[in-house]
Amino acid sequence: MPRRQLTDDVTWVYGAHDTGDGRAVHTSMHLVEGEEGYLLINSGDHDVREAFLDQIRAVVGDRGVGTIFAQESHIPNSANVSAFREEYDADVIFPGGASPIHGLPEVIQWPQYGTESLYGRTFDLTRGSLLDLPHTTWIFDRSSGVLFPLEGFCYYHDPAETGALSSELADGIRYEDVHDFYEDMLLWLKYADPRKVIEDLRGIVDDFDPEIIAPAHGNPIVREDVPTYVDHIERAVTEIADSYEFKASTA
Ligand SMILES: [Fe+2]
Repeated sequence: MPRRQLTDDVTWVYGAHDTGDGRAVHTSMHLVEGEEGYLLINSGDHDVREAFLDQIRAVVGDRGVGTIFAQESHIPNSANVSAFREEYDADVIFPGGASPIHGLPEVIQWPQYGTESLYGRTFDLTRGSLLDLPHTTWIFDRSSGVLFPLEGFCYYHDPAETGALSSELADGIRYEDVHDFYEDMLLWLKYADPRKVIEDLRGIVDDFDPEIIAPAHGNPIVREDVPTYVDHIERAVTEIADSYEFKASTA
């Protein structure tokens, strides 16, 4: 389970699973170092708990993790909230709410839209259109210029390039890796208006103008590659929507 610095104070901790067709999909977490503590964004899946913990320990040392930010409540992104909280006695922020059915411990509830301060940093909260759960919240760290989306800006990759930035991918961001991720993961896209989905995504890019987009399931996208990704996703959601044909049951 490796890690990589995305900026001076943002660390990418990542792993990947085989998709079964020669490609892989990331499950990533990110550590943001603030003045008085570390913010951990997401907590990964059960099967990588110890490996993720080893990386976290190596980064934060004695300072520990002060706060865990849960972008959503389900696996593979939030399975270790309780375990990591136990290790570090960390606060948990979950903008989606604290319903017992989510299985999260007592949480601090930030809004899904707004601006909050933590550890001397300013974070903007928003919610993109590419979601699998309505309580999912995206977070933008103004100090580093890194946007952390989920499920937006995700894509498959070549397993040999799991640790690469988008600018280091041999073939750049491949269209089929974007298309297939969304066709597999967001079944509702078949029924969506692609223009609205894209308008929303472009608005978020324009508002935040991120240096790096660091998705939970994809190689980090550097600023120069964001237009390529957005062009791919526009084509992908259009093709996925166009592929849907209503068939009434005759049973
Ligand atoms: Fe999800």
